[in-house]
Amino acid sequence: NTQSTSQPTQAQCPYSGAHTNAGTGCPVSARAAQFDPFEDAYQQDPPEYVKWSREQEPVFYSPKLGYWVVTRYEDIKQIFRDNITFSPSIALEKITPTGPEANAVLESYNYGMSRTLVNEDEPAHMPRRRLLMEPFTVDALKHHEPMVRALTRQYVDRFINDGKADLVEQMLWEVPLTVALHFLGVPEEDMDTLRKYSIAHTVNTWGRPKAEEQVAVAHAVGNFWQLAGKILEKMRKNPEQPGWMQYGIRMQQLHPDVVPDSYLHSMMMAGIVAAHETTANASANAIKLLLSHPHVWQEICEDPNLIPNAVEECLRHNGSVAAWRRLATRDVQIGGVSIAAGSKLLIVSSSANHDERHFADADLLDIRRENASDQLTFGYGSHQCMGKNLARMEMQIFLEELTLRLPHLILSEQTFTYVSNTSFRGPEHLWVHWDPSANPERQDPSILNRQHPIRLGEPSTHSLSRQVVVQETEMLTDDIMRIRLAAADGQTLPRWAPGSHIDLVCGDLGISRQYSLCGDPANPQVMDIAVLREDAGRGGSAWVHQHVRSGLPLHIRGPRNHFHFDEQASKAIFIAGGIGITPIIAMARVAKNRGIDYQIHYCGRSRKSMALLASLQEHGERLHVYAADEGLRADFASLLATPDAETQIYACGPQRLTDCLQELCECWPDDALHIEHFHSTLSKLDPSREHAFEAELKQSGITVTVAANQTLLEALRAANIDIQSDCEEGLCGSCEVSVLGGQPDHRDVVLTRSERAAGNKMMSCCSRAKDKHIILDL
Ligand code: HEM
Repeated sequence: NTQSTSQPTQAQCPYSGAHTNAGTGCPVSARAAQFDPFEDAYQQDPPEYVKWSREQEPVFYSPKLGYWVVTRYEDIKQIFRDNITFSPSIALEKITPTGPEANAVLESYNYGMSRTLVNEDEPAHMPRRRLLMEPFTVDALKHHEPMVRALTRQYVDRFINDGKADLVEQMLWEVPLTVALHFLGVPEEDMDTLRKYSIAHTVNTWGRPKAEEQVAVAHAVGNFWQLAGKILEKMRKNPEQPGWMQYGIRMQQLHPDVVPDSYLHSMMMAGIVAAHETTANASANAIKLLLSHPHVWQEICEDPNLIPNAVEECLRHNGSVAAWRRLATRDVQIGGVSIAAGSKLLIVSSSANHDERHFADADLLDIRRENASDQLTFGYGSHQCMGKNLARMEMQIFLEELTLRLPHLILSEQTFTYVSNTSFRGPEHLWVHWDPSANPERQDPSILNRQHPIRLGEPSTHSLSRQVVVQETEMLTDDIMRIRLAAADGQTLPRWAPGSHIDLVCGDLGISRQYSLCGDPANPQVMDIAVLREDAGRGGSAWVHQHVRSGLPLHIRGPRNHFHFDEQASKAIFIAGGIGITPIIAMARVAKNRGIDYQIHYCGRSRKSMALLASLQEHGERLHVYAADEGLRADFASLLATPDAETQIYACGPQRLTDCLQELCECWPDDALHIEHFHSTLSKLDPSREHAFEAELKQSGITVTVAANQTLLEALRAANIDIQSDCEEGLCGSCEVSVLGGQPDHRDVVLTRSERAAGNKMMSCCSRAKDKHIILDL
């Protein structure tokens, strides 16, 4: 929509020479040629705008932009991970270089924006980041919570009786700005001016202003620069005051080479934008998204424990940084495409966040999504957003206050507009309305005393349960009950893959039990489990048998999958003992549908005791049943005597069965045998038997001490390092970290023999260092 006067970003065609116009014509596809991130369609929904690319051409050259565009999750993560090959130096470069008139204006203000952190290369960047990190750690952020809450409350007070508001204008812009100023240590002043200036900075850096706009933008940016300088001078006079800038000034006194003057002035300006607009936009995007899914909004109103993960899911689904930039410093391949040294890359992180290869049912807003915090909206690797936990805190508080005080908010009919640019994204206005006479605090002012402790840092999905209702039950054998669950709100349930399980919360017993899903993965309306009553067990299955009846509401967590089935394999052997048939049944159905060559070996006491035997009949001769009371015993030694590189083996059953299979598969390729483990005893932490050790984090440049009574995962999180985790028992593999030096003491059941022996990765939730020191690629 905006016509640039100059198109200097149209770099030289990377397909010069032999490829260009050879036979088939220009190698830039028609879609790639049309790609224009300044179009409204991109601003409205970036992941949808590049969906075609994610599916067909995940790395393409955009002639309009002069950039290579990357849209898939793994490729983008790889780029973020390697800040030497993919330099961040162009992150703040003007995407549309300004003309001479605007440049002259900028010069007249002595505009000298230089490197800060986000666009600084190594070796300068890491020492600076390390030195300036402390105010961002979870412990240091805690004391900002009352200030954020008080501000939020004050802003909501101003419009709560009005019945309508533009949340951007009336709250979401100014609160994050004020929080940013507090965090930086800036006195609260000139808010309106700063607001105007910071928008100008976005347009100046990431937008495509028209010629006549460029000059006005340059004046605003120049003023912003000068104001930042003045504020900095004020701060220098009183560097003991709280604030990240004052902290920087103090660090400069100790390490002037690491924190130069040019950094401080530039950071004063860039810091406001980094902390303010990103969070304001993310909050507006989140509230818009949640209100456009009223049943989800209702859920978080009813259960504020859902808010931390809802924030993460909103950052994934509709984040405020749509894309980021890197410069290739050497010839390199991305997703199989050759990119020459010097190429500029636009990495569309919002598209990565909708990549089905990483996020199941990626377009679905699922506030209980287990891996929502894998989102790349904060970037990843050594430049990952330092302020992420402050932003998360603000967003949680906004949602808490709004859901508490205005649960009846309705998104008004409106057309959303966005500032045209590649990266920063949020609606300029967000109109909502409600009936003020129904404000809950009018009936019960005491609700204002309700407060939930903020979850600082990456959310844990452990406490997230979803309500379901028992649709029907059936006794399959004397002691096995099949239970069919449906969503309590009549909506569909999340999609799941064979091998997945759910955690079923057993009423008020305070325990939950894991059960594999054994129904049809293609049916999103219901989930089936089969529960064996184990009288010698700890009471979970007895509770299920005693209480679960059709119509009973239940809570589940998940689904999650630690027992992945490779649908691309050509051959599979499924081995089940007793109730271990449940995950196998879903896998076998998929194997059949995909034309995989498979066999099922199912062992049990008697046919009468073997659940789901009837539904396995569809597998005909591929099914082998070994009922002990018929004198039939499986001969696994013969079955597995000859290793076969193309065959995958999936087993679930009693430990003696899986131990025996493990032994028999010693001669098989390492990854051939997959076992479903529901419990791991290896991971229990007994501080009296452990030693403390140091984990040196190569990318972050810090060393973390892991105390004897602490897991590596806990120690990493305390140091502001985000690590995904799920089971935290060494079963699922989601907390894997790469090891560069030292010997891991493996306690998980995920890694294969040769992976353990190689010693180059470990599970941070349970594994430790054999000695006193380990070096990690973090
Ligand atoms: C870096 C996003 C809030 C301070 C970044 C990066 C992104 C980002 C994409 C670059 C990451 C990379 O290159 O890998 C966001 C989003 C936010 C947010 C989406 C809100 C939802 C904040 C806040 C602060 C902040 C509140 C400060 C209080 C920084 C800093 C860096 C950074 C200092 C540079 C880190 C480095 O290069 O080492 N942020 N940010 N951000 N952010 Fe944020």
